[in-house]
Amino acid sequence: MPDTVAIPRSPEGAERARATDRAERARATDEVLVLDFGGQYSQLIARRVRECGVFAELLPHHVPLEEVNRRRPRALILSGGPASVYADGAPGLRRELLELGVPVLGICYGMQAMALELGGRVEGAEVGEFGRSRLSVSDPGRLLRDTPPEQSCWMSHRDTVYEAPPGFTALASSSESPVAAIENDRRRLYGIQFHPEVVHTPYGTKILETFLRDIAGCAMDWSAASVIDEQVARIRERVGDGRVICGLSGGVDSSVAALLTYRAVGDQLTCVFVDHGLMRKNEAGQVLAAFRDRFKVPLIAVDAEARFLRRLAGVTEPERKRKVIGEEFIRVFEEQAERLGNPRFLVQGTLYSDVIESGGGTGAATIKSHHNVGGLPDDLEFELVEPLRTLFKDEVRQVGAELGLPDRLVWRQPFPGPGLAIRIVGGEVTRERLEILREADHILQDEIRSAGLYRELWQSFCVLPADLRSVGVQGDERTYGYVVVIRAVTSDDAMTADWARLPYDLLERVASRMINEIAQVNRVALDITSKPPGTIEWE
Ligand code: XMP
Repeated sequence: MPDTVAIPRSPEGAERARATDRAERARATDEVLVLDFGGQYSQLIARRVRECGVFAELLPHHVPLEEVNRRRPRALILSGGPASVYADGAPGLRRELLELGVPVLGICYGMQAMALELGGRVEGAEVGEFGRSRLSVSDPGRLLRDTPPEQSCWMSHRDTVYEAPPGFTALASSSESPVAAIENDRRRLYGIQFHPEVVHTPYGTKILETFLRDIAGCAMDWSAASVIDEQVARIRERVGDGRVICGLSGGVDSSVAALLTYRAVGDQLTCVFVDHGLMRKNEAGQVLAAFRDRFKVPLIAVDAEARFLRRLAGVTEPERKRKVIGEEFIRVFEEQAERLGNPRFLVQGTLYSDVIESGGGTGAATIKSHHNVGGLPDDLEFELVEPLRTLFKDEVRQVGAELGLPDRLVWRQPFPGPGLAIRIVGGEVTRERLEILREADHILQDEIRSAGLYRELWQSFCVLPADLRSVGVQGDERTYGYVVVIRAVTSDDAMTADWARLPYDLLERVASRMINEIAQVNRVALDITSKPPGTIEWE
């Protein structure tokens, strides 16, 4: 698949060439590479560096040296990791990485590996050091400059550095770490045992900034919004005068990817919005209002509710539901693509975390297969345009806001591709049940937004047990109605989640509104299961 296309010498072609130049310049901005030794905070390090204004990418610790050199990073950061430096198969640190001449900051395992490689004394300790610790700075050196002599920090290690390598200065210690920070300014090598990237290290950001600005000389001028020009130029370069199609789901990722593409190639893009009838109340309308009415993006909205419900009739098993919906979605999308003369390019809202998880980064984690349900399979015959591949979710939101996407879409909570169908649990999806669930969900969202809690929650929604009824009493009459379950969680990435402690008065308002406003509902329950052991969705 060609990565570039010939640029014609038309006025548009000249503009495209200028845009390409801009992209090249944008690519010349400072970059820091975070080498991942398997630590749980590695992604967070990259995010924090970006928040400091320096573009950072996460690469596996064994990335070939040529690749590191090719990228000409301003600095390297070695992440933490779960292994002991003495464990069989512990990821080794190649000395060449310390001799590139660019500053290197080792964090936790990264510092231990550096110390070991250069002749320091590192040993396993009887007692580990986990959680908040007190750091005593004996000599701030360059790295800890302008931070107090006593400060708190977050530790998570068992191996400990007892002596700094020759030529290094030990800068700080804690109760369990005789050497908790080191530097050799001449060789531009630095190490800290604690985690500057977590909020429990109050001077963490300051230390990262010192490393990036004062030591590595980074310009600190990167922002998520600064990728807009670069991505627009890249899309133009890639697409040329080809036709592009985008499956718009109403989520922030596909919305931002679509808008960037529209900015790049205008009407060469057509968005397809498949309304499968399993969306939340009003959401389909909001997508149409934003894209078709406000941004004037060419958009085909397919009202496919009837055909999805027909296919879902009698289906009760969760995986079967997902499969049916996934297949039907692809069928509808393919029909539309054909009507459009089968555009050559497909826009997808793939995020940096997806790239990392599918092996572009550490290769350590595997995405759950269900994440693709309601999306498109890999083997469709399109060339992919993925303008968000380098961005984290919160950065995508920033880009969306910068592009003028309405707040409602920018901050929309994640919503599964199969929609409300997997929230009608243990039974068939029918129009009546969808209406009950949609109404209950609307009341919950309404109250959560009014209480100002919407953005604090990763997800909040309702679940409707399909075949469960309970007895109640309303106005002296016996009722026999549906039970609605409230599910609200906080999370950073959906891999783990905690049930949200919603205020009691909010819960009371929600329950009473649901029972008063939805005739078929007479009981409301709250799900207080975290993930693990539960999953976020019930099916
Ligand atoms: P679970 O339920 O596994 O969900 O904790 C984790 C995250 O994935 C979303 N989810 C899906 N997204 N298609 C999707 O596009 C699906 O079939 C699907 N199932 C779950 C879920 O909402 C949560 O954010």
